[in-house]
Amino acid sequence: MAKKLLGLLAHLHATVLFLPVDPAAGAMYNVLRYGARPDGAADAAGPFLRAWADACLSTRPATVLVPPGRYLVSSATFAGPCRSRAAVTFAVAGTVVAPAGAGGRGSSGRWITFENVDGLVVSGGTLDGRGRALWECRRRGQSSCPTPASSLTIANSRDVVVAGVRSVDSELFHLVVLQCHGVTVRGVTVEAPADSPNTDGIHLHMSSHVSVYDARISTGDDCISIGPGNSNLWIERVACGPGHGISIGSLGKQEGMAVEAVQNVTVKTTWFTGTTNGLRIKTWGGSKRGFVRGVTFADATMSGVDNPIIIDQRYCPTTGGAGCPGGSSSISISDVRYVGVRGSSATPVAVSFDCSRSNPCSGIRLQDVALTYRGRPAAASCRNARGSTLGLVMPPSCL
Ligand SMILES: *[C@@H]1O[C@H](CO)[C@@H](O)[C@H](O)[C@H]1NC(C)=O
Repeated sequence: MAKKLLGLLAHLHATVLFLPVDPAAGAMYNVLRYGARPDGAADAAGPFLRAWADACLSTRPATVLVPPGRYLVSSATFAGPCRSRAAVTFAVAGTVVAPAGAGGRGSSGRWITFENVDGLVVSGGTLDGRGRALWECRRRGQSSCPTPASSLTIANSRDVVVAGVRSVDSELFHLVVLQCHGVTVRGVTVEAPADSPNTDGIHLHMSSHVSVYDARISTGDDCISIGPGNSNLWIERVACGPGHGISIGSLGKQEGMAVEAVQNVTVKTTWFTGTTNGLRIKTWGGSKRGFVRGVTFADATMSGVDNPIIIDQRYCPTTGGAGCPGGSSSISISDVRYVGVRGSSATPVAVSFDCSRSNPCSGIRLQDVALTYRGRPAAASCRNARGSTLGLVMPPSCL
């Protein structure tokens, strides 16, 4: 009896040992087995890509595992489509570091890319973009700076989850969602200095049904930027600061798109601390057509924010207007609600609607807004804006 039991145990043990997988996760592809070295010095791009290629060929759900340690990756594109329609997971426990020095991440403007991977999950880990050298090159105004690279790009994919990723010091945007449908971004942290240029936290572009939950973003540009071609977005529980706020736009400048549209966006429960903007919509001047409609900003807390609520249809980031198109914007903005926005402005004007002369804003709704400047009611400023108010609204509405 005892012998039989031992035999059974041995069999179980062997089964567990030789199972190449965690049964729940499916097949497991550890980058160490592909020759990656966790020393932060040897380029692990090749091993990462070979592990990915095998995972992507798996007919079962598959996981590429990056164990604890530092891995240098020069640049990598993890491409699909993969054979398993179920899911391919890229699970990082360690830190992935970009090359030291500016550039060196390929010339495509992207450091790490996933494309054409339906059912992708990217989880955990730290991405260190080491952007400092490039920012300094740009700050010195050198014309020969290398093309800056966004740290993580998810492109042309459906049903994607990005969870628990920490991204620090990207040369350009930290996380880009490009031409995707059905993406959940959960528990992402972004850390870069307040003076780092164009280091947006999360940039959404031409995507639909994207949700962002529980993000903590400190950076030198927009915490979240919503570019053209986005619809059906849900953004909830975001702490932003330092940074330039949560922005729809800028719209109206891109080459190539006939009409630039953003619609059905909810931004709920946000905290802005010491940011230049809170809730912003920005469009360039000029004849580029498009619209922003169906936006709800609900439950926002401002602490020392320069422009807590702002629509800027003469957006021009350069001083003196160099390189900015003149004329009034042809992007029409309608049906935008602000519900439950409170806290302190760092400037006298806390609510600013500077809308297009040729395409005035319509359907702007302010409800339960309480914004102060130095402990007193702040001011509001309107140009070409129409709408209504409900409940307590302070500063008094100029709509
Ligand atoms: C707006 O977007 C949300 C997702 O954020 C979606 O659930 C809802 O159905 C969309 N509404 C319309 C009218 O498309």
